[in-house]
Amino acid sequence: MATYNKNDPASIQNMFNSIANQYDKTNAVLSFQMHKRWNRQLVQQVLSKQNPHNFLDLCCGTGDIALNYLQKAPNSCQAYLVDFCSNMLTCAKDKMSKNGISNHQIQYVQADVQELPFSNESMDCATMAYGIRNVKDPSKCIREVYRVLKPGGCFGILELTQPKNNLLKMGHRFYLRSVLPVLGRWLTSNQDAYSYLQNSIQTFIAPAELEKIMHRSQFIETRSIPLLGGIATIIIGNKPKGS
Ligand SMILES: C[S@@+](CC[C@H](N)C(=O)[O-])C[C@H]1O[C@@H](n2cnc3c(N)ncnc32)[C@H](O)[C@@H]1O
Repeated sequence: MATYNKNDPASIQNMFNSIANQYDKTNAVLSFQMHKRWNRQLVQQVLSKQNPHNFLDLCCGTGDIALNYLQKAPNSCQAYLVDFCSNMLTCAKDKMSKNGISNHQIQYVQADVQELPFSNESMDCATMAYGIRNVKDPSKCIREVYRVLKPGGCFGILELTQPKNNLLKMGHRFYLRSVLPVLGRWLTSNQDAYSYLQNSIQTFIAPAELEKIMHRSQFIETRSIPLLGGIATIIIGNKPKGS
C-alpha cells in the first residue's frame, strides 16, 4: 500500500503523476462540478479584475485555472504554469491545444513552488488552486510568491477547507471519510490517493491561519472568501504598491 505524505514531496509527485490522466474526470465526479464555479470565482477575484500582462498559476495541474482566464484574455497575455509533475503539465498542454489556446501564450515550468525559477518582481498576479495543502512548507511558497510579484500584484489561493457550521461539518466529514475514498478507488484504482486527499483536507490549517502566514510574508489587505459554507475558501492578499 502506497503512503503519501507531504513531508516526502517525492511521494506526492508520484501520486499526482499516477492520477494525472484521470484527474479531470475524477474531479468532476467528486466535486459534483462545483470546482468549476469555484475556479471561475478565483479567476474573477484575482485575474479578471486586474487584466494582467502576465500571471503565474502555481500547482497548475491540468491547467483549468489558466484556461479559464486565457479563453477571455487578450492574446498578449502570458501565463506561466508551474507544477512539479510532468504528467500534469503534459495534460495541461493537451488541454490548451484542444481549446485553441496558442502555445506562445504559455510557458510550462516543471518546478517546486517553494523555489520559483523566476526573477524578483516579474509577475503581475498569481493563483494557486487546491495546491498549498500539498506543499511541505506553505510559508516558504508564499514568501516565494511575494518575491516574484510586482508591487501591487495580487495572490489568490483557492483551497478545500472545513465548514464551520456543525451540521455541514458532519456531512462533510462523512463524505470525506466514507464516500470520497470509495469513489476515488472506483474512478482511478488508487484508493490511497483519495485517502490522502481526505486526510490532507482534514488536517490542513484553517484559512485564518493561511491569512496570517500571508500577512507575515508582508502581504496586505488579506481576506478570506468562504464558498459553499466554507467547503472551499479563497484567500487573497496583495503586495503593497510602494514596496
Ligand atoms: C490537487 S492538484 C490541483 C491542480 C489544479 N490547480 C486544479 O485546479 O485542478 C495539486 C497539484 O499541485 C502539484 N504540486 C503539489 N505540490 C507541489 C510542489 N511543491 N511544487 C509544485 N507542484 C506541486 C501537484 O503535482 C498537482 O498537480
